[in-house]
Amino acid sequence: MPVSLKQLPGPKGYPIVGNIPVIDLPDLHNQIEQWADEYGDVYRLNLGYTSQTVVTRPSIIQKILAARPKEFIRMKKMDNIIREGGVDGVFNAEGEKWKLHRKIVAKGLDVKHQKEFYPSMVTILGRLYNKWSKDAESGEPFDIQRDLLRFTVDITSTLAFGTEMNTLEQEGSAIQDHMEKVFPMIFYRINQPIQWHKLVKRKADREFEAAVSEMNKLVDEFIVSGQAKLKAHPELRENPSNLLESILVAAEEEENFSLEEVRGNLLTLLMAGEDTTAHTLNWLMYLLTIHTDAQNGLREEADRVLGDGPWMSDYSDNTALKYAEAVAFESMRFKPVAPVMLFQAQQDIELEEFFIKKGQKILTQYRSAALKDEYFTEAQSFKPERWLKESKCPVHSMDAFTPFGSGPRYCPGRNLAILEIRMVLSMLFKNFDIEMVTDHKEIKEVMAFTMMANDFKVRLKKRA
Ligand code: HEM
Repeated sequence: MPVSLKQLPGPKGYPIVGNIPVIDLPDLHNQIEQWADEYGDVYRLNLGYTSQTVVTRPSIIQKILAARPKEFIRMKKMDNIIREGGVDGVFNAEGEKWKLHRKIVAKGLDVKHQKEFYPSMVTILGRLYNKWSKDAESGEPFDIQRDLLRFTVDITSTLAFGTEMNTLEQEGSAIQDHMEKVFPMIFYRINQPIQWHKLVKRKADREFEAAVSEMNKLVDEFIVSGQAKLKAHPELRENPSNLLESILVAAEEEENFSLEEVRGNLLTLLMAGEDTTAHTLNWLMYLLTIHTDAQNGLREEADRVLGDGPWMSDYSDNTALKYAEAVAFESMRFKPVAPVMLFQAQQDIELEEFFIKKGQKILTQYRSAALKDEYFTEAQSFKPERWLKESKCPVHSMDAFTPFGSGPRYCPGRNLAILEIRMVLSMLFKNFDIEMVTDHKEIKEVMAFTMMANDFKVRLKKRA
């Protein structure tokens, strides 16, 4: 007989409220790992009025990810809350709607577009280089996360909307200040048993609403300028030059694709493209200032591939930056920015020895397995070499590594993110030495939809 939800082990809860009082949201991903060590790789969380099946076993996570959009969907509550924030886009769409959104969005993020936009991406990388050159000259410690967030939003807006926002050279606050209020609030609301904000609005709720409204205003400006460009250049309808134009053309052609969905997808891309990539890069800074031997590998590779230039000016060089990619993967194994995903079963289904009932809520967490010797040789050691083809690591399970998800809904921005990471790492190590100023022990993981680091400061020096 398959094991049902009721038979699963799990942390003992309190009457009525179950495990809710012990859940510490900013540390949720770590709690999930600790409970997996205690109760096994499939267990139950009692959330009072409801319960969640927690899965950390890679083979089952892979099956769930692959069985979308039919057998599993993203958790319904998440969709409701994202929609409340005014977003109706590819991340929260399901079924036929999702297929349509996905087709349009994935096309705009493909390699062809990346190649075409590479010169603009290099201009943005040059601005990051200028900013860091000034920081190196002054010798003052600075918040590198701020720069990385500005870099990634500038890249996403250029690639997706054909508009240079240039927040990197903007003094004071920028669109990021609004964006950083959105994911944490969505995460908070998803995990609240009662949706208090519907009854009474706190300061944080009002700030969230103001942030959403500012972002909508910005995206509306993109839409108006995109519509004007299409009108002035009707030939672009046949061959749109960016994602905004493809989405606008699709919205005119597809009966089922509203202007709200155009806006929803643009907002989704802006959010998904900025936060994840910037925080992955930020964690790389943290890890590389601990594992300084990996810095040597990056320097050697950057010197060899970039030649005399300060950065990668030729798009085709990016695939030669293999060590930078290996370091990025190893960093994502230790510090995945999206370790937790939430799903719901669409029908009764058996997964290995377990029975999942229709409607059952499921939380998956992949780092738990990715840091175990069962799945990666010497899993607790930071070894970028394991990702290089020639290394042939004896235990290396790709099933246990899903930083970009998997199956039909895997991240369509994966290649863009890897390209950005290669660009930043090679430029950084070609030109600068980096040193952590904040004590590494004070840098903690904070889960707020994205798993990010609390603030830290670094110092750069120009390489001799
Ligand atoms: C290091 C950077 C990034 C990480 C770690 C990351 C991670 C993820 C993950 C885990 C998912 C869920 C996948 C699934 O359900 O199987 C996802 C979905 C998504 N990501 Fe990313 N992402 C990154 C960068 C980007 C970028 C740069 C963009 C676009 C500019 C992007 C756009 C999206 C979109 C649109 C989805 C929804 C796909 C769907 O539901 O069909 N991501 N990402």
